[in-house]
Amino acid sequence: MTPYIGTATSRVDGPAKVTGKAKYAGEFNASDLAYASVVESTIAKGRIIRIDTSQALRVEGVLDVLTHEDRPRMASADKAWKDDVAPEEGSPFRPLYDDRIKFSGQPIALVVAEEWEIARYAASLVRVECEKQAPVTDLYQQRVEAFAVEKPDKPHGDATKAFAAAEVRHQAEYFIPTEHHNPMELFASTVVWDGAGKLTVYDKTQGVQNVQRYLCSVFEKKADDVRVISPYVGGAFGSGLRPQYQVVLAVLGALAVQRSVRLVLTRQQMYGLGHRPATIERLSLGAKADGTLDAITHEAIGATSQFEDFARNDTGWAALLYKSANAKYAHRLARLDVQTPCDMRAPGAATGVYALECAMDELAVALKLDPVELRLRCYSDRDQNENVPYTSKQLRECYRQGAEAFGWDKRNAEPRSMRDGSELVGWGMATGVWEALQVPTAARIVLSANGHAEISCAASDIGTGTYTILSQVAADALGLPIENITIKLGDSTLPQAPVEGGSWTAASASHAVAVTAEEVRKALLAMAKTIKGSPLADAKPEDVILADGKIVSKRDGSRAVSIADAMRNGATDRIEKEKTNNFPEDSSHARNTHSAVFAEVKVDEQLGVIRVTRVISAVAAGRILNTKTAQSQIMGAVVGGIGMALHEETVYDHRFGRIMNANIAEYHVPVNADVYDIKVLFVDEPDEIINPLGIKGLGEIGIVGVAAAIANAVYHATGKRVRDLPITLDKVQGS
Ligand code: MOS
Repeated sequence: MTPYIGTATSRVDGPAKVTGKAKYAGEFNASDLAYASVVESTIAKGRIIRIDTSQALRVEGVLDVLTHEDRPRMASADKAWKDDVAPEEGSPFRPLYDDRIKFSGQPIALVVAEEWEIARYAASLVRVECEKQAPVTDLYQQRVEAFAVEKPDKPHGDATKAFAAAEVRHQAEYFIPTEHHNPMELFASTVVWDGAGKLTVYDKTQGVQNVQRYLCSVFEKKADDVRVISPYVGGAFGSGLRPQYQVVLAVLGALAVQRSVRLVLTRQQMYGLGHRPATIERLSLGAKADGTLDAITHEAIGATSQFEDFARNDTGWAALLYKSANAKYAHRLARLDVQTPCDMRAPGAATGVYALECAMDELAVALKLDPVELRLRCYSDRDQNENVPYTSKQLRECYRQGAEAFGWDKRNAEPRSMRDGSELVGWGMATGVWEALQVPTAARIVLSANGHAEISCAASDIGTGTYTILSQVAADALGLPIENITIKLGDSTLPQAPVEGGSWTAASASHAVAVTAEEVRKALLAMAKTIKGSPLADAKPEDVILADGKIVSKRDGSRAVSIADAMRNGATDRIEKEKTNNFPEDSSHARNTHSAVFAEVKVDEQLGVIRVTRVISAVAAGRILNTKTAQSQIMGAVVGGIGMALHEETVYDHRFGRIMNANIAEYHVPVNADVYDIKVLFVDEPDEIINPLGIKGLGEIGIVGVAAAIANAVYHATGKRVRDLPITLDKVQGS
């Protein structure tokens, strides 16, 4: 039997998705379903003096209007509101809790009605009187007030002194604006009123058990009373890691009217959720004339809210990539009157590595050195933060294979030296790096005598392909055709899994399935051994594998017992096992994924219009479970990187603290016409240390470095260095 792992297996959930059988949170039905609509604050800071709901309540079909003054009870302690992904410091946001307005777009009332249209109309009739305060939403204005947060990494040497003494220096500031996630699926919750205080909650989330625990603590309910289900997620990119406010409001609504309630946020309202924080990044690089680095200083100032300290590792990545005797990092936060930021694909790295890799490009220009060559001269085989080697690091091969596939050797280093008709052509490159995390996750396998297996785990599939890769892993481990495998995910009653994030689900859930399959194999062998005259009578568990529906001796393939015969002998028709993966503690190695990104842009010389005509992303991420879904992951992430480089920007009117482009007409994301040729290469990266299957995970590495490669290409095309994203044509054309 050829293994499924490593093949281009199509999504097992593909047919359900294209036929509409796959249901999303806002599509589940319940009898007697009521609909809710949110009223948002139009001011960014202040206090509600009075809310007049009388007009809204008079609309026929309105069941209730909830406000902070009139709603079911919620917990008061901060601790009750801390979900698994909440920042350590701060007081999580509570919708409809009190009269305080903390950000524009904050929910301040909820209308529940017989029909969604009625709820939405009545919401427009709620009158609110506020006491306003002047908000601050401009990070540049607030940077002087920034405060240090725990530094992610230790300094080494004296970077300030080494920088001052360096032969060649580069110092600059880069800016990444606020970005909102904009997944296709709107945030939605359908709360089914099961009676007797019990709720089934269909929620758009990356972590059903996180939401389940959160709802239980916020609403002071017993664990058995709340079940959270999320079988399919229409994209999230990190926005579904923390429970979002709509799930609290939907439950509040259900408790108030004692009925099932559905709440689907509008696209505009989703701009009141978390976002990638605006970040100012300052890089100081000092090198010898031969291109070896001697000083790295990376300082970041990220935006956070007034009530929680959200910070990610923006600055520590240089030490994973480049050798330097002296390095220093500092991360600071500045408080703005905005919702608390949250994770967005490769949080910290997408922003920090953007700045680092643009700075490296600028240093290469100063050194008159090819940017790939500069990176090879500084290449580090060790994580210098922890001073440990990597479990595997095939980044050199990424550079080599990526450059070759791109035709990098034909690049003329001179800016504005390459053109195609009326367009200037630019070639740029950058490095990407992310973590290869693995976390405790459990799986259950139920194997039937007819050779069908059901695998279950509470993990989510946010569109990444979890259903598919777990089918492959299970089929291989159990020796069954993939058609015989059923995967159940996204239900809080299933075996334990953390939120689907950090690119850890592939490695973590796959190993949960693999270790559980071992238990199934042991159980089958025990049943097979006692068959009269069993060919496996003397076999130990490590002597056999499961293949072609049989328990087979590794040494002698003719010694085998079918699953059906073994179970018949064991007088059973099913074997059920559940186990948690068991990654040993090991701080002797760094675990990371890497990439080399090469980009071609064409810039209209007259108009400044930028097209990203070619991207090659060479990725080293351990063993690739599924070449098809993996390629889709990276390709999608590259599109995200194009958006970051050229399109995405949440624009505030700082006078009012309001987002001016809270819709996807004016918040630009790449569309099909913006995407040309994207090629993904997976560099062979065997890794026997990281985990038995050698898996690293791919969800986030694909976006890291993309914006920098494009920014560097724009410089090469135009001779103009734009350091603040997005690179729009006015910045390219402006003086
Ligand atoms: Mo990812 S930003 O951990 O969903």
